Amino acid sequence: MEIVICPDVNGVGRTAADSFERTIQRKPAAVLGLATGSSPLPLYNELERRSRHGQLSFREVRAFSLDEYIGLPAEHPETYREVVNREFTTRVDIDPAGVRGPNGNAPDLEIEAADFERAITDAGGIDVQVLGVGSNGHIGFNEPGSSLGSRTRVKTLLPKTRRDNARFFGDPNDVPHHVITQGIGTIMEARRIVLMATGEQKADAIARLVEGPISAMCPGSVLQLHSNTVVILDESAASKLALADYYRYTYENKPAWQRL
Ligand code: F6R
Repeated sequence: MEIVICPDVNGVGRTAADSFERTIQRKPAAVLGLATGSSPLPLYNELERRSRHGQLSFREVRAFSLDEYIGLPAEHPETYREVVNREFTTRVDIDPAGVRGPNGNAPDLEIEAADFERAITDAGGIDVQVLGVGSNGHIGFNEPGSSLGSRTRVKTLLPKTRRDNARFFGDPNDVPHHVITQGIGTIMEARRIVLMATGEQKADAIARLVEGPISAMCPGSVLQLHSNTVVILDESAASKLALADYYRYTYENKPAWQRL
């Protein structure tokens, strides 16, 4: 696991975009894994900028999102389908038909979960997956206690996660209780993982994820077992890391041939 500490949020976005750009340069038909929420927004802003400047093209790229609320009306602005569309798909030159998420209104959610897993496999697997982390250590919507080998399935959100996400909804009671999410085992199959976290409210989760024991109580800690993960942080999110100075030193002294 590589840890990169950036001076500010824009630096986090640029560093994450570098990793995406490198993947797409090597493989123009790359398969991306998208997250929603606040954390990836600086990445999407930077990808839009690079796409507009002709530095990067998504024409051959396909993408899968991580998760979806269950039971929100299809036209609701906070369905993750709508959020991905608004924050990513419509801002770059990707073919919208190549972007898929789990359908939270499918008549049979077990069949939907299996179909979604199969679609990722049929696409050849995810080349680079962006992740945020919940204040309780969740990745995707795999709340503490989730099986570290889990596949896409329905999960119940913790009250704390519903409160954290209430900022996106007018009425906190409107935040759905249930979601369909890629499992931890599904996420771990991505060839490259780029986790982004900013702000002091993420400092505890990041300390547990990076330096704590691997445990289902902090689902993101399983990333310690992934062989190609970078965790990109601002100073606040990194503020509780015991080895922060070492991570800074390592990154500052990184040889040119050993790129991100
Ligand atoms: C979103 C997702 C979640 C978020 C996490 C952090 O698709 O899977 O794991 O990444 O809840 O949310 P933010 O970034 O809003 O703090």
